[in-house]
Amino acid sequence: MGHERAKRAAAEQASLLVEDGMRVGLGTGTTVAFLLPALAARSLDIVCVATSPATEKQARSLGLDVRAFAELERLDLAIDGADQVDPAGWLVKGGGGAHTREKIVAAAAEHFVVIVSADKLVGEITPPVPLELLSFGLASTLRQLGEVRLRPGPPSPDGGVIADWYGEIRGLAELAGRLDAQPGVVEHGLFPAEMVETVIAGDEEGGARKVKG
Ligand code: 5RP
Repeated sequence: MGHERAKRAAAEQASLLVEDGMRVGLGTGTTVAFLLPALAARSLDIVCVATSPATEKQARSLGLDVRAFAELERLDLAIDGADQVDPAGWLVKGGGGAHTREKIVAAAAEHFVVIVSADKLVGEITPPVPLELLSFGLASTLRQLGEVRLRPGPPSPDGGVIADWYGEIRGLAELAGRLDAQPGVVEHGLFPAEMVETVIAGDEEGGARKVKG
């Protein structure tokens, strides 16, 4: 998977932002996989929601209290990884196909903290942009979207088809708006900078620094 030291450093620093009594959203991916043991080791009295079955399984095995998200109206903090982070704080997420649940959890949280290895910091966001699509009308949705490739592998936990958009990015807000408006697109992996309060980037020496927030 690579960049383990950097991912661990970012994850461990973010785990210190969690306080007793918080309702915490847990992201998905290899960076979050380092967050969960760091969080469990603090033995805090917290309630968590998970953005994927894999995170839920790992969190439960570490003794974290994971609840169904239907039970909680809002979260204090959500912590998640990203595939790309631009200088303003726009993200591309969904490398693991979990971006729909990840965006719902991030939107529910008062504070959204992103943890990445420093190689994820990019000057400019480039394709692919992950998509989750409804299988109903799939061929028509694909035709309307243009340059999209279906991703091999299972559907999302919510039955969505995971795909990647490879078109030309002329503007992030314009593209996000276009994908939001496309019937058949359940969710896309562009997260606007306004959603992202803090970005913590880890380096290969085991250090971590806030690059946003
Ligand atoms: C999953 C995600 C992940 O957070 C993103 O792909 C980063 O993963 P990793 O921490 O393994 O590099 O969006 O849908």
